[in-house]
Amino acid sequence: MTSFKTYVYLPSVANSVLLLSGFLDTLRVLTAVGEPTLSEFNARYDFMYSRNDTYYILVICDGSGTIVGTGAVIVERKFIHNMGLVGHIEDIAVAKNQQGKKLGLRIIQALDYVAENVGCYKCILDCSEANEGFYVKCGFKRAGLEMAHYYETAAPKI
Ligand SMILES: CC(C)(COP(=O)(O)OP(=O)(O)OC[C@H]1O[C@@H](n2cnc3c(N)ncnc32)[C@H](O)[C@@H]1OP(=O)(O)O)[C@@H](O)C(=O)NCCC(=O)NCCS
Repeated sequence: MTSFKTYVYLPSVANSVLLLSGFLDTLRVLTAVGEPTLSEFNARYDFMYSRNDTYYILVICDGSGTIVGTGAVIVERKFIHNMGLVGHIEDIAVAKNQQGKKLGLRIIQALDYVAENVGCYKCILDCSEANEGFYVKCGFKRAGLEMAHYYETAAPKI
């Protein structure tokens, strides 16, 4: 049986190792990722790492150190609800050949734990109808409706 290891943020691992060890390939099961250069990747990693009280990125590695699962919770600071905190679960992905082994469940449980323990009053996420059953099994329930406005000319300016 494969043994899996879970890390939040890989504090002792160089960011380039993250890039090279299957992180982006795992995310490709979720959506389009693009082909960032190492310096683009490092810049984004360093930004998030410098705010590691806001971005919590989790990865699961298989026995060979390859990343096979990932997810994130981003902690939003609000004025409402007594200066409340809200956790936003994002970018949940498990490599195709590792799906169905409860890794997704473990990722959500771990992110939920982080959100609760940093003091969030709730954790929310968007998903497709096809994944609703997965999130219900993780203890989430349908609440509201997602709205989106996509921009044709998207390019990071900050
Ligand atoms: C959705 C995803 C994260 C689930 O991860 P996983 O590791 O395969 O799921 P798990 O093995 O942890 O499943 C936990 C439970 O949820 C169920 N489940 C998993 N996917 C499901 C789905 N799409 N619909 C209903 N139930 C689902 C499993 O059968 C299991 O139930 P059980 O406890 O009764 O056996 C994974 O399939 C994935 O990465 N999909 C592609 C990317 C994606 O869609 N990400 C989510 C974006 S919102």
